[in-house]
Amino acid sequence: MNCYEKFALYYDELMDDVDYESWFLYIKNIFKRFDIEPREVLEIACGTGNLTYYLCKEGYNITSFDMSEDMLSIAYNKLLSFKNLKLLKQNMKDFKINKQFDSIVSICDSINYILNEDELLKVFENVYNHLKYGGLFIFDINSYYKLSEIIGNNTFVEDRDDIYYVWQNYFDKSNNLAQFYLDFFIKNDDGNYIRFDEEHIERAYQIEEIESILKEVGFKGIKKYEAFTFNIPKNNSERINFVARK
Ligand SMILES: C[S@@+](CC[C@H](N)C(=O)[O-])C[C@H]1O[C@@H](n2cnc3c(N)ncnc32)[C@H](O)[C@@H]1O
Repeated sequence: MNCYEKFALYYDELMDDVDYESWFLYIKNIFKRFDIEPREVLEIACGTGNLTYYLCKEGYNITSFDMSEDMLSIAYNKLLSFKNLKLLKQNMKDFKINKQFDSIVSICDSINYILNEDELLKVFENVYNHLKYGGLFIFDINSYYKLSEIIGNNTFVEDRDDIYYVWQNYFDKSNNLAQFYLDFFIKNDDGNYIRFDEEHIERAYQIEEIESILKEVGFKGIKKYEAFTFNIPKNNSERINFVARK
């Protein structure tokens, strides 16, 4: 599967409706609500570093990783000036960093890229091992409802001045996988368009499945919220935020 390669160059432009500062403030509120004042924070699947920017600006010691070199290279250029950041290329399935953190965060449905329960168990075990006792694991997922009913089996088209892209999606109920075929047409300076495509797959998880794997690993006090709030998720919540303590 090719994913987050050429798309990395246009990711920030296409995500311009996402308010990463508010997302950061939500995470900061979670720290406060759960009574931790983290110093060492690990960010998993940091992408182009949009949340990383605010975490660094706040003054935490940040370690961030992603497995896409193309995403990391955008992040690197964006975050060059921060001395409190380590940026790494790692895979969340088997990452190894020789230290433990006060908190580990992952946002924007990166966890949905883990396609089965066995791999998700390994990711959560690894997160657990990299957390200090009392530390918090904070992450969100695209909800089962969003992937199966809203995105799944739908086609979206976005027509901007210099980017035209078609997003065709298929949801397979037999394995709960949502496949996205993204077809990009990008206008060059000379007015011609270049075309490339990417295929992404996200796994739809029920809240109970995630909770049960977190518990199996040893996490305690697991909370589920409709993202950006502290309300319990509804049947039609599109993003679910989890908080779990080691
Ligand atoms: C939707 S993007 C989110 C990026 C970033 N967190 C943000 O908020 O903009 C998903 C990210 O997950 C990364 N990713 C997917 N699977 C991964 C894995 N197994 N290990 C590390 N990163 C992964 C992708 O490269 C991509 O940058």
